[in-house]
Amino acid sequence: METAIRLILDREALARRVAELGAQLSRDYRGLEPVFVGILKGAFIFLADLVRALEFPVEVDFVRAASYGAGTESAGVIRLTKDVELPLAGRHLLLVEDIVDAGYTLDFLRRHLNALGPASLKICCLIDKRERRRVEVPLDYVGFVVPGGFLVGYGLDCGEKLRTLPEVYAVDMGGESCTP
Ligand code: IMP
Ligand code: MG
Repeated sequence: METAIRLILDREALARRVAELGAQLSRDYRGLEPVFVGILKGAFIFLADLVRALEFPVEVDFVRAASYGAGTESAGVIRLTKDVELPLAGRHLLLVEDIVDAGYTLDFLRRHLNALGPASLKICCLIDKRERRRVEVPLDYVGFVVPGGFLVGYGLDCGEKLRTLPEVYAVDMGGESCTP
């Protein structure tokens, strides 16, 4: 089956929204010396652009969680496959995610990071597939809300493919999974 992709967010739309989020975060976190915690792998491009849109430097760390395997549906079972490395107790944390679907990943990581005793913990995601939510997660900063579909590009992958596209596309796999 041929894989068809359709443009959803072009470079200009992404750049404009990231600049807006950067300005908002610069206001909200000024003087707080926050740590931005990116969720690997998907958030690496969004995080890279976001920190460069800030008016001051921040510290950066990463976690990695796995749920999907090669499929496009969350199993709801999340594993931590890489933990943070900075001491985060008493720090102001911003968890940076690429896309929120059912919400299982962020629910898990929020609990995990809260157990480290941060001064605050907020969440910033590029894309919110709000209608697909199964577990309530407070999203403090949202780039775009989309109804659903499976998206690739700008860090988002389909079985490790299409992650490095500079724009975001919806992929129609004709019922097939993202197996590489
Ligand atoms: P959740 O746990 O169901 O909210 O799924 C969130 C995780 O699944 C994200 O960290 C993404 O890596 C991945 N994911 C969810 N939807 C998409 C998508 O449309 N494209 C690529 N990855 C996705
Ligand atoms: Mg991810």
